[in-house]
Amino acid sequence: MPWDELKPRQFPAFDKELDGISKQTMEDHYKLYEGYVKKVNECRKVLNEFDYSEIEGNQVFSDLRAVSVDYTFALLGYKNHDLYFGHLGGEGGDATGRFAELAESEFNSLGKWFDSVKKAASSARGWVMVGYDLNDGSLFNYIMDTQNLWAVYNMCPVLAIDVYEHAYVRDFGATPDGRKEYVEAFFRNLDWDHVNRQLIQAEAAKQGADKSGAREGAEKAAA
Ligand SMILES: [Fe+2]
Repeated sequence: MPWDELKPRQFPAFDKELDGISKQTMEDHYKLYEGYVKKVNECRKVLNEFDYSEIEGNQVFSDLRAVSVDYTFALLGYKNHDLYFGHLGGEGGDATGRFAELAESEFNSLGKWFDSVKKAASSARGWVMVGYDLNDGSLFNYIMDTQNLWAVYNMCPVLAIDVYEHAYVRDFGATPDGRKEYVEAFFRNLDWDHVNRQLIQAEAAKQGADKSGAREGAEKAAA
């Protein structure tokens, strides 16, 4: 496990005045992100230092279990915020480019996708992750109740909405309507070019996997 030490990244959104989401909220939020980075590095150190021939494996409680589970919480705290902060600071508006094309073909209309993602944002306790599935090329709004729950394998995140209260309570209040106003503000500040870069990378990864024939080979072997 030759991990490099993670370092908090800088994001253009912090040099801009966002529409509706205050600087104070962003600055406080960044402190949480720095905390995840610190804990990722701490977990990695512990995982690297275990003597796996001696350490206890136990499903009820064991140090190995605890740090392995909490590591995913910390790491996704880093990764989810990396996308969230990365695609704030844009001009917002309607979806554009490849994302708009794909969302329209999947949901029949862009308006329907917007409705679905906003309802997902009211239904999640932590995150909504709009993900592209590397297996079949579909888009889905994953509702995640914490940082590390209920996303699926081979899903590439392309758009991330943080709906934990820390993301909006200061600016919009701790009510369901406050959250809806925050989600509207989120979309007013979204950089669709960033979303499209994520999606284009994911599509390229799918094309690479399709071309390699790895999946077909696995299916043939299983038949
Ligand atoms: Fe957050």
